[in-house]
Amino acid sequence: MLDTLIFASQIVVPAGEGRALRGAEMNKLKVIDNGAVGIKDGKIAFVGTREEAADLKANETIDAEGKLLSPGLVDPHTHLVFGGSREHELALKQQGVPYLEILAQGGGILSTVRATRETTEDALFEKAMFHLNRCLTYGVTTMEAKSGYGLDKETELKQLRVAKKLNESHPMDLVSTFLGAHAIPENYKGRPDAFLEEMLSMLSVISKEGLAEFVDIFCETGVFSVEQSRTFLQKAKTAGFGVKIHADEIDPLGGTEMACEIGAVSADHLVGASKEGVRMLGESDTIAVLLPGTTFYLGKDHFAPAREMISSGAAVALSTDFNPGSSPTENIQFIMNLAALKLKMTPEEIWNAVTVNAAYAIGRGDVAGSLIKGRNADLVLWDVPNYKYVPYHYGVNHVNRVWKNGVLVA
Ligand code: NIG
Ligand code: FE
Repeated sequence: MLDTLIFASQIVVPAGEGRALRGAEMNKLKVIDNGAVGIKDGKIAFVGTREEAADLKANETIDAEGKLLSPGLVDPHTHLVFGGSREHELALKQQGVPYLEILAQGGGILSTVRATRETTEDALFEKAMFHLNRCLTYGVTTMEAKSGYGLDKETELKQLRVAKKLNESHPMDLVSTFLGAHAIPENYKGRPDAFLEEMLSMLSVISKEGLAEFVDIFCETGVFSVEQSRTFLQKAKTAGFGVKIHADEIDPLGGTEMACEIGAVSADHLVGASKEGVRMLGESDTIAVLLPGTTFYLGKDHFAPAREMISSGAAVALSTDFNPGSSPTENIQFIMNLAALKLKMTPEEIWNAVTVNAAYAIGRGDVAGSLIKGRNADLVLWDVPNYKYVPYHYGVNHVNRVWKNGVLVA
């Protein structure tokens, strides 16, 4: 006897190949028309057609005629825990003041650093919980959360502890990343290497207390150079962390190539990735995490070269980059719309990029992003007739309900 049996007009079943999908594989998406998914003890117990499910018995049967069922989505790049907000920067943006100029003047990331330092751990927890609940309502059941608004030991640890507590107390599975190298704080101005040493000295306690699995750095003009980032990430890797990088987001510095060379799990943004960087992504296991919401919000016309990346054989994932500055949105469905319109990705590529590939980008490919018997029953029921509809109809929330480990959570 199953706990729950859900019938839907279409079911999205991303491939579980044991690795991220790359290149042309991304354009293949398995769907089951008139399908059914069974849940037992929080796990997926059945995936098949309506006919195959005809003899199954369940305590609860949901007949979602006309609707789509998919795995819970995975958001692999967010800055979830922060104090304050930055609506005051919108007017500066409208006047054309560049993002890096606002940062150089002590605003931007540094303004959120001040707010985060001033916010208590409990208040940060409540605020992040609010955003996390909203992410869940958009269909995300697994996501990554970065620190990086402390830039000092005390506040970075405070952010990481909040993420850990959220993971323990909220249905969402949260994967934590240490982004202490997010900007150079005022007291280290002109001394980036000394600041990076300070952040590296935190790795032992982070590892001992299980506060992060990944280490990330913002490789950008006026922040950290490619060589500083390489040295920093290599040390983090040696200390046992998976590594990620904010690369070629605004200026094309060559962080994409470096990420492939050092075996980063993911390289994120990549708007200005060079031809060589794109070629190297196609040959490495580094997943390209693209964040078109950020490009949109920064008011740029040029988006990451997703088509070239897929042609070169790369594995592409998509994410909100949820943060208070360059991408204040929890709406991953809008990112799916932007991926269609601005990155020219196909609906099949987009679904693979927010499920299986996003899961691999945060080391959760074996548990999330796919509908396979025995896995956690993380499911989303959508008020849409088919999977192509979600990247098409934009700006609204199509989610009908969300299950996490078989429990209805939204
Ligand atoms: O991914 N670029 C660096 N970090 C974030 C933005 C953080 C912020 O502006 O607060 C990003 O775009
Ligand atoms: Fe980011």
